[in-house]
Amino acid sequence: MEYMEKALAHFQKLLEEQAKRLETLNKPRKDFSAMESVTIGIVDGDGIGPIIMEQAVRVLKQLLKKEIADGKVVLKRIEGLTIENRLAKNQPVPTEVLAEIKTCDVLLKGPTTTPNGGTMESANVTLRRELDLYANVRPVSIPEQGIDWMFYRENTEGEYVLGSKGIDLPGMAVDFKVTTDAGTRRIARAAFEYAKQNGKTRVSVVTKANIMKKTDGKFSAICKEIAAEYPEITADEWYIDIMTANLVNESIRNQFQVFVLPNLYGDIITDEAAQIQGGVGTAGSANMGDQYAMFEAIHGSAPRMIEEGLGAYANPASILKAEAMLLRHICMFDAAQRLETALEDCAVVVTGDKNGATAAQYTDALLELL
Ligand code: IPM
Ligand code: MG
Repeated sequence: MEYMEKALAHFQKLLEEQAKRLETLNKPRKDFSAMESVTIGIVDGDGIGPIIMEQAVRVLKQLLKKEIADGKVVLKRIEGLTIENRLAKNQPVPTEVLAEIKTCDVLLKGPTTTPNGGTMESANVTLRRELDLYANVRPVSIPEQGIDWMFYRENTEGEYVLGSKGIDLPGMAVDFKVTTDAGTRRIARAAFEYAKQNGKTRVSVVTKANIMKKTDGKFSAICKEIAAEYPEITADEWYIDIMTANLVNESIRNQFQVFVLPNLYGDIITDEAAQIQGGVGTAGSANMGDQYAMFEAIHGSAPRMIEEGLGAYANPASILKAEAMLLRHICMFDAAQRLETALEDCAVVVTGDKNGATAAQYTDALLELL
């Protein structure tokens, strides 16, 4: 039973690490409306990343021309978050790149490639943890169907926090799921605050608390506690399986407004929701914490498009939606609104191949509309 002792020692170490993490969870929130200068880190990423990011930066420079000239906004290019450099350093986010990133307030990030196999963690998962980006915020809207959903996915705990630290034993494997009071409180608070500030009347808590009794049970109980502070908002609770069905049930799905849910369920259901909207390439995504925030396209780096020489035809719409979310986050509401309206009105069609416009042609037309 030597393996049993090893496993218990491993488990003890994990518990100790998590107890330590608990102590770091209550940091004050940065107030962007009171800041004299905001630094936006520009991270290109891999594959089509540099191509769509070039367009995103053009838009940013036009929208924030005055703020950049006045030094209210600083655009800072961060080099080295490339697959080549990450493999060479054998680090998902090389130390010096992370240090540069931490000098910024917010990041606009192109997609990064995660190598298949090996042990290298995804750059995204590393950045979410290192910058404590606990809220993954993903809007999905289909106005003609009356659908206007906002997902608040917990982004640093649940099945992800120890996802690469499970235990392999003879004939069995064990993974761990961790839910903390403080971690749940802050994501629940973020969801209810969003609802309150945006005139939403309903928040749906999604768990599998009938089965995951301790972790999801805690998530559910704490969400109820927070909900009691918002009597004007109706809070309801659903299990993830039936909610997955609800999203394809056309007779009820447009009644849902805001969702709050643990990490893995949020990962799965936001892909479903984005697909209902028109594909995972159509949704923007924000990773928010109290100190930092990172905005990105929901899609990947599309290495196949690069191999086929089609990189120029990549669609910048998803990263531009994320850019609008970034502007809102740093309290540049007017610029955010102008970009959102232009994105809705832009008639140029990008198809991802030579039948459609290039990313640059799309952006030319968008800039005309700003
Ligand atoms: C997402 C992605 C990531 C996740 C991957 C790339 C690690 O699927 O942002 O939803 O699982 O969170
Ligand atoms: Mg996902």
